[in-house]
Amino acid sequence: MSNPHDEHESSHKPPIRKEMSRRQFLTYTLGGATAFMVGGVTLPMVRFAVDPILHKKGEGAFIKVVEASKITNEPQEFNFELPQQDGWYSSVASLTAWIRKDESGKIYALSPICKHLGCTVGWNNDKSFPNEYHCPCHGAHYTKDGKQLAVAPKPLDEYKVMLKDDWVYLGDIVANTRVK
Ligand code: FES
Repeated sequence: MSNPHDEHESSHKPPIRKEMSRRQFLTYTLGGATAFMVGGVTLPMVRFAVDPILHKKGEGAFIKVVEASKITNEPQEFNFELPQQDGWYSSVASLTAWIRKDESGKIYALSPICKHLGCTVGWNNDKSFPNEYHCPCHGAHYTKDGKQLAVAPKPLDEYKVMLKDDWVYLGDIVANTRVK
């Protein structure tokens, strides 16, 4: 039979300390130091490799195109350049917009890319379709607001427009907001 006094004493014995061996100490120390050095070298490389992918291709940028005072009710064609970044590849895209002021004075800009198969439309460029955008490829034509009248399945896209200090800035191309 065990003595309760012995039990009491044994429960107060100091816990056995597990000493770390010299080998374990060296393994942990060298492993930690190696991981630290490898991380220090590879993390900047990974960041360099991934960084351009994280940046969008010029999205959200607005480009200064023309003085607002030059915009009339008649659509006018303006060309401008958009710097682009695709991964590590930098380029400049040449873009065109047809810009006009509507009856309420609001300035808007249409993309000239035909919504049929992507040819380029022009304004008033076909006598059969006066005061319309016309596509020479398969005959699509559109109203001043870009509404499709034949062949094309959708209205012409619009550029986002920003007015600042009496200048018209154009941004991303979006679906037409003027045509229901
Ligand atoms: S691409 Fe314009 S009508 Fe076909």
